[in-house]
Amino acid sequence: MRILSIETSCDDTAVALVKSSKNNFSVVDSLVSSQIKVHAPFGGVVPNLAAREHLRNLPLMLKSFFRRNKISSENIDLVAVTQGPGLIPALLVGTNAAKALAYAWKKPLVGVHHIAGHIYANFIDQLIPTSDVREIRFPILALIVSGGHTELILMKKHLDYQIVGETLDDAAGEAFDKVARILGLGYPGGPEIAARAAQILNLKFKILNFRLPRPMINSQDLNFSFSGLKTAALYTVRDNPKILKNKKLESELCVEFQQAVVDVLVHKTIQAAKKYKPKSILLGGGVSANEELRKQLCKAVKNNFPNTSYFIPDTLYSLDNAAMIAVAGCYQFKLARNKKKFDNNWKNLEADADLKLL
Ligand code: KG4
Ligand code: ZN
Repeated sequence: MRILSIETSCDDTAVALVKSSKNNFSVVDSLVSSQIKVHAPFGGVVPNLAAREHLRNLPLMLKSFFRRNKISSENIDLVAVTQGPGLIPALLVGTNAAKALAYAWKKPLVGVHHIAGHIYANFIDQLIPTSDVREIRFPILALIVSGGHTELILMKKHLDYQIVGETLDDAAGEAFDKVARILGLGYPGGPEIAARAAQILNLKFKILNFRLPRPMINSQDLNFSFSGLKTAALYTVRDNPKILKNKKLESELCVEFQQAVVDVLVHKTIQAAKKYKPKSILLGGGVSANEELRKQLCKAVKNNFPNTSYFIPDTLYSLDNAAMIAVAGCYQFKLARNKKKFDNNWKNLEADADLKLL
């Protein structure tokens, strides 16, 4: 099966062609056009600007993508698109393009939840198994950390999602972006903070002058809160204004902030694993590109659950992309078709900014 997929939920315009045979997914081609330069001066994503850029980029990308992959109605079996959640003006560009293609090609169309995409990024064949077990087994516990979401999701089978923990306020990526803004670093903040933190982490002797809280680390539930951590970073800068002029102090604060986020994420994931005893732990979402999070969660899983396998996507598929939407879409299509519940009418797919993960 060959799946053409489109993702435009936020500030990346993405198109992919994914080939599936049985349950193996290989990415034939994947294009991502980033709008970082457009949004950077505003320190965050401006929805209408994002839509304008998608509208400008998507037709050009599709045109060159079709040409270089010789795509036509004869060699595509399914169209998949991010239906939500996300910025509605941005989502509308992708869903309308996907509807037009499905209509013109007379092909089935599936709408995919963005977070389902981040989970299913782990099923792309470039995944990096960190144990001997290469196959993802159920039950799965997925930690999805992105700019808009921080969720622990339990899956007993494919497409069966139970949110067992989530952030009560800011998402982890959002906290990275806001702290970067406080420090006057660029957007998106995650990679900027990680790069500054690495400068200290690579040193043999590390002295840290700052200590930040680990919000909710000792709470009995599996929820998160990152807003207080961001405020603590803000107060630290207010009380030590020299941080803004001293690169070493700035890097030290970045190390401490990053470690605070990683500590909470790792601790809660292990707590959830103790409760739900998954056979596989999956990491996904933009923040899963963070090297420290990838490494430290791996170590914690190995130490606590040697028989549980741990999977992370290639960093290409940690960040927003369309290949992950194709994989989730393929599972959705096959399940609905098997249950004879597939709705083959492109008209019924509506972009939904608040789409729930069901
Ligand atoms: O999944 P994603 O690409 O888009 C959303 O669905 O939101 O995630 C974007 C988020 C941003 O907040 C960005 O700062 C964060 O992922 N991010 C990182 C890193 N790379 C991207 N956070 C920490 N470390 C990174 N290396
Ligand atoms: Zn995302």
